[in-house]
Amino acid sequence: MHKDIDRILFGEDELRTAVAEVGKRISADYAGKNPLLVGILKGSVVFMADLMRAVDCGCSIDFMVAKSYGNAAVSSGNVKILKDLDTDITGRDVIIVEDILDTARTLTAVKNYLLSKSPASVKICALLDKVTAEKAGDAKADYKCFDVGNEFVVGYGLDYAERYRELPYIGVLRHEVYSK
Ligand code: XMP
Ligand code: MG
Repeated sequence: MHKDIDRILFGEDELRTAVAEVGKRISADYAGKNPLLVGILKGSVVFMADLMRAVDCGCSIDFMVAKSYGNAAVSSGNVKILKDLDTDITGRDVIIVEDILDTARTLTAVKNYLLSKSPASVKICALLDKVTAEKAGDAKADYKCFDVGNEFVVGYGLDYAERYRELPYIGVLRHEVYSK
């Protein structure tokens, strides 16, 4: 285990099993639909790489970079798209792939933005859901792997100051690391 990690929450085997299960559900729900998986950079990359290989109904992928401002629940005008989709999503079934749903501010804004592009549907697939977090937006995870408490977690794509994304497990960061 990395010296900056206090404890491991989800190890490699648990992650593999949970991602396979979500992939199976998506495959069944989207049979014959060729969904577009939209990863929110950068936190979603590891999850996306595993999830797309667990989806066997056929899918396409794209990525976005987004920053949200203010009350994302109100309109789609509060999100700044720093990298937009390359794909025309008119009539497409879109699944947003995100590392963690915290206040839901970002995903509510991104979902509203995508809904304004006339897709057939937009759903959310989150690796983690911070269930105890105070919610600022009404976006909910349609698919998720795990619930987490109010702790800062890293690994499997999630970072602290751009570090720890490469860890193959999800762990809680030691307090000393923040306060340094
Ligand atoms: P909202 O609040 O919009 O934020 O749902 C989601 C984004 O906040 C980041 N985030 C975290 N990143 N460990 C992380 O590495 C965490 O515990 C954590 N909580 C929130 C993350 O970028 C996510 O996309
Ligand atoms: Mg993120």
